[in-house]
Amino acid sequence: MKLLQTDGLTAFYGDFQALFGIDFEVGEGEIVAVIGANGAGKTTLLKTITGLLAAPAQAVRFQDEAIGGMTPAKIVQRGIAMVPEGRRLFPSLSVEENLLMGAYRKRSGPWDLAAVGRLFPILKERRHAPATALSGGQQQMVAIGRALMSNPRLLICDELSLGLAPIVVKEIYEALESVTASGLTAVIVEQDTTMARNVSSRLYCLQEGRVSLTGASKQISQEQITAAYFGLPENPAPEQRAQA
Ligand SMILES: Nc1ncnc2c1ncn2[C@@H]1O[C@H](COP(=O)(O)OP(=O)(O)O)[C@@H](O)[C@H]1O
Ligand SMILES: [Mg+2]
Repeated sequence: MKLLQTDGLTAFYGDFQALFGIDFEVGEGEIVAVIGANGAGKTTLLKTITGLLAAPAQAVRFQDEAIGGMTPAKIVQRGIAMVPEGRRLFPSLSVEENLLMGAYRKRSGPWDLAAVGRLFPILKERRHAPATALSGGQQQMVAIGRALMSNPRLLICDELSLGLAPIVVKEIYEALESVTASGLTAVIVEQDTTMARNVSSRLYCLQEGRVSLTGASKQISQEQITAAYFGLPENPAPEQRAQA
């Protein structure tokens, strides 16, 4: 069953067109990765799905309902939660208060402060600390916890690993895998293509606002990804190869 689907999705910032007809699908229980160079349109895709950017109503469907252009609040209530790029925590609030912000439009489900504390014990320990007192990795855990607090059916993560040490990234992805193993569907935007392939069942590569590659993650080679990332021809003609 298709949980989320975009159909010929376009997006604009004023006169600037950032997405050109994106067909994107996420099945129930899947983990789908979105990769692509800086400026390819990954965050823009997520913003149209979560209502932060205008989209034609029928261009985004969630559980067979047209949600394009709905307000972000309504989309959270439908069951989509986002961990935004750069985390966007409330700096003056404590860890616990930040987590509770995610429960503002809470749906029913297993996630509450106690459940987030079991997933990330350090957050329970530091629950009264201001969010800014935490390390980058711990702040990312708060951002994930906050998204989970709304009890989403679909969790969307934008560049979880940005600026974090590899060991912290590993820890965060392991936690995420334990969450998705319990049945939560996820879309992961990730610059680390190896990580993206490892954690996902399918992936999409965006290039300049278009899908340049899609398929089962395990069946896509690193060469195909490199070509789709940078817009290189997959099988360059001999004369092109000689010039390269
Ligand atoms: N707020 C904005 N105003 C104008 N252009 C933007 C804005 N945000 C992103 N863009 C442009 O849209 C394109 C896609 O950006 P983005 O979706 O952020 O890429 P990615 O997340 O893949 O790095 C880029 O060319 C970027 O410069
Ligand atoms: Mg981005």
